[in-house]
Amino acid sequence: MKRKPNIAVVGATGVVGTTFLKVLEERNFPFENIYMMASARSAGTTVTFKGKEYVVEELTEHSFDKPIDIALFSAGGGTSAKFAPIAAEHGCIVVDNSSQWRMEKDVPLVVPEVNPQDIGWNKGIIANPNCSTIQAVVALKPLHDKYGIKRVVYSTYQAVSGSGMKGINDLKNGLEGKDEPLQKFPHPIAGNCLPHIDVFMENGYTKEEMKMINETHKILGDDSIKVTATTVRVPVFDSHSESINIELNKPFELEDVVELFKNFPGIVVQDDVENNVYPLALDAAGTDEVYIGRIRRDFSVENGLNIWVVADNIRKGAATNAVQIAEKLLETLPD
Ligand code: A2P
Repeated sequence: MKRKPNIAVVGATGVVGTTFLKVLEERNFPFENIYMMASARSAGTTVTFKGKEYVVEELTEHSFDKPIDIALFSAGGGTSAKFAPIAAEHGCIVVDNSSQWRMEKDVPLVVPEVNPQDIGWNKGIIANPNCSTIQAVVALKPLHDKYGIKRVVYSTYQAVSGSGMKGINDLKNGLEGKDEPLQKFPHPIAGNCLPHIDVFMENGYTKEEMKMINETHKILGDDSIKVTATTVRVPVFDSHSESINIELNKPFELEDVVELFKNFPGIVVQDDVENNVYPLALDAAGTDEVYIGRIRRDFSVENGLNIWVVADNIRKGAATNAVQIAEKLLETLPD
C-alpha cells in the first residue's frame, strides 16, 4: 500500500502490548495514526511511543468505527473473542496474540519465516501462535522441508514472563526471600521447576502442551507428524529454552543440518561445545532471533536428532512475530 496505515494496539498497557510498541518503534513501522487501547481501568492514562505521549482509550464496541487498517491484540482470550470480530467487520485486520482463534479453520496461524503464504487467505483475523510453538516451528521447518519429520518430542523450560506480571512477581518475591502469598503459581517457582503450564486437560496433558502439538500440525500443514510435549515453568525471567528430539523420515548428515539452520531466516546457530558455546536464555533475552545449538545425533533411533532451541518468548514468541505479520500485511492492503 502507498498510504500509511492507521493502526491500533489493543492491550497497550500490558507486558506484550508494551513490547508491541517497542518493536513497532525499533522497526520504524509506518503509520498515519496509532490508537492505544486497553480496559476501562487504564483509560485516560498515557503511554509513550516514539517520544510522544498517547492517551489510552477504553476498548469498546465503537473503537473500530474510525478507520483502522491493522490492530495488534494482546488483551486476553475473552477480549479477543468479543472484539476481534467487531474489528474485522469494520474492515480492520486483527493480528491476535491470544489463543482464542488459533485453531479456527478460517483463521491463519502464522510464523512469517515458516508459512507466510497463509496470511493471504485471512478473513480479518490472523492468529499469532503460542510462544513455545513459534520458536519450535522455526527450527523444524527447514528439517521438514528437506527430510520430512516423523516424530517430535518437545521438553520445554519456560520463563515466568510468559505468565504475565503475577508470575514475574512470584519469582521476584521468592528470590528475595519475601514471605508473600503466591500470585500466579500453585507452588513456589524460585528454586523450583513446575511441570504445569496452563490448565490440565482430561487426557493428562496441560493446555500448553496440547497447544504445542496442535499448532505445530497447523503451521507446518501436516497432521501426520507425531508430536508429544512436556512443558515446564522454570525460575528464569525471560526466554524459553526447549530440548527438541526429532525423528526424520530420511537419513541426514549432521553438517548438512547445521548448514540448513545457518541458511534459514531468523535462525542463529550457536554450537561450539568445546568453548562452552550453546544458546542461553540470558543471551537471547531482548533479541528477535531463534538460537539453535547442541545439534547432535540421537543414537537411540534411526534418523534421530537432538537440538536445543532458545528465543525471547515476549519478542519472537509474541510481539515481534505479530509485527512481522503486520509488515507482510502492509504489502496486501489496498491503497
Ligand atoms: P489494563 O491495563 O487496562 O488492564 P497483561 O497480559 O500484561 O496482563 O496485559 C493485559 C492487557 O490487556 C492490558 O493492557 C490490559 O489493560 C488489557 N485488557 C485486559 N482486559 C481488557 C478488556 N476487557 N478490554 C480491553 N483491554 C483489556
